[in-house]
Amino acid sequence: MSTSNTVVEAIEEEALRRKPSKGIGPLAKLLPFLLVYKSMLAAAFVALVVATAATLSFPIAARQVLDRGFADSDAGVISQYFALLILVGVVLGAASAIRFYFVSWLGERLVADLRQAVYANVLTLSSSFFEITRTGEVVSRLVADTTLIKTVVGSSASVALRNLFTLFGAAIGMVLTSATLSGLTLAATPLIILPLVVFGRWVRRLSRDSQDRIADTSAFGTETLGAVQTVQAFNHEEIDRRGFMSTVNQAFDAARKRILARSILTALIVSIGFSALVGVLWFGALEVQAGQMSGGELAQFVFYAFLVAGALTALSDVWGDVQMAAGATERLIELLEVESDIQGPAHPVALPTPAQGAIEFSNVTFSYPTRPGVSALNDFSLKITPGQTVAIVGPSGAGKSTVFQLLLRFYDPQHGSVTLDGVELRQADPAALRAEMALVPQDSVVFGMSAADNIRYGRPDATDAEVRQATQDALLGDFFETLPDGLNTAFGERGITLSGGQRQRMSIARAILRDAPVLLLDEATSALDAESEKLVQQALDGLEKGRTTLVIAHRLATVKKADQIVVMDEGRVVAIGRHEELIAQNGLYARLAKLQFGRDALAGH
Ligand SMILES: Nc1ncnc2c1ncn2[C@@H]1O[C@H](COP(=O)(O)OP(=O)(O)O)[C@@H](O)[C@H]1O
Ligand SMILES: [Mg+2]
Repeated sequence: MSTSNTVVEAIEEEALRRKPSKGIGPLAKLLPFLLVYKSMLAAAFVALVVATAATLSFPIAARQVLDRGFADSDAGVISQYFALLILVGVVLGAASAIRFYFVSWLGERLVADLRQAVYANVLTLSSSFFEITRTGEVVSRLVADTTLIKTVVGSSASVALRNLFTLFGAAIGMVLTSATLSGLTLAATPLIILPLVVFGRWVRRLSRDSQDRIADTSAFGTETLGAVQTVQAFNHEEIDRRGFMSTVNQAFDAARKRILARSILTALIVSIGFSALVGVLWFGALEVQAGQMSGGELAQFVFYAFLVAGALTALSDVWGDVQMAAGATERLIELLEVESDIQGPAHPVALPTPAQGAIEFSNVTFSYPTRPGVSALNDFSLKITPGQTVAIVGPSGAGKSTVFQLLLRFYDPQHGSVTLDGVELRQADPAALRAEMALVPQDSVVFGMSAADNIRYGRPDATDAEVRQATQDALLGDFFETLPDGLNTAFGERGITLSGGQRQRMSIARAILRDAPVLLLDEATSALDAESEKLVQQALDGLEKGRTTLVIAHRLATVKKADQIVVMDEGRVVAIGRHEELIAQNGLYARLAKLQFGRDALAGH
């Protein structure tokens, strides 16, 4: 592909433009997705509160047992407390299970909804988006990033939330138990918070880096595996193996750095946290000895302090995950919010019904977004009256296919205008516009579905009889009879089991069935042998009657019977006329006719 260099540059630019995730702010964008499920959220929240309350009641029980139960001579008091504790344990278990269910459910649902939303948006994006973004990267975001978010929402977030609740509850418990000891603890807190903030930023940057590298790996794999025959035919396996190894290792390196940063963070927090805790205990033990505090109180405080420390450790553990999810969310939200540069206006002008098929290009100048310096069309003007058949001829790279791309509004021209039935394409709804066209593209596409569904692609409500008729017209009837399941035969991904000519005929059958007012044929029969071409051409001739047809032609027979022949070179119209007129001018057309159509001419067409 001649454009690959500029595409790679564009991707790199795009990567540089991305700002690193600042904090966990992007996660807020998930809220609208979660708020749809208010009752589930409420259930999870209630379960969370109950479980936390149960956990926080343990230290109180411990104090009661120590200060009252042991002091009392009656063993019954102790038994009562323990029976109560067992009950609390059961409540804790039930509440934890319920929380787990609802939170995991929310995680899965969120990811399912996100995937649908992102996919739906990406489907609407224009061709220029796909020129600078590799599809492998989009798929990676859809799969890897959403999975990351699921892990976080479905488990890490629940761990974080539970520990946050415990943290607050236990901290309050600490204060209520002993204000002095709590004050001491509070004084030690900055020691823990500081590394969390400093290292957190580092971890966050590394997380994003790590995900980007995974996306690279996925893009590389998708691209090479998608063209595995080309890879093998050119003995490119070794180079690709090394290329893939290099991207995998870069992903590993990025992950290693992230893990290291998190390890250091954990080490700091755990050691500082525990030292601080022991210091506080030390002081408390001296207080008990001095008679300022009961043993039960100290036990209760210690219990709460342990809960706080445990909660902090768990939080620092999941903090990294939460940050990764913030990075992943940011990348997904980018895909969700990016808007197509091809948009219908808020109040589109309706195309006339029934459609006429009048097309006009007026002084159109256009360059592809990835090649801004080169005009693919240059001051291109063409007027086609309804029902005409117009042949476009010209050397390869002249801009013939580009004419179709603009007509289908995959791109907007920088200058000039294109109209269909008098309506400027920008003023119309792109879907309504495309509904009027049937395209046989230069590269036929066959999807991994049954033959019938492939042909029905442009008209899903077509009857079986109509599908069979289109199949016959495209000369595929005999071929399908040889297949085990006939029209229900499923094709492999991208129709690998079909020959080039068969794929092209599938594509033609699809256009025949679509039955649209404007027919666009881009070298539609180039992959067929002379014999089948003649027959398929008859079907196409029938189809061309009564509708506007643009044929990018490569055979004289097609060109000769066109109402107008447009000769293109370097994005310009160099001549327009009928065959005899153009031959008489003895220009580019005469040369092309001699070279390109020479064989047909000899064959007596
Ligand atoms: N998607 C694209 N991005 C950038 N350049 C393109 C793209 N498609 C085609 N071109 C360039 O535009 C010019 C016209 O291409 P095209 O219309 O496909 O020619 P033709 O169909 O006449 O062979 C060529 O120079 C080609 O390299
Ligand atoms: Mg072309």
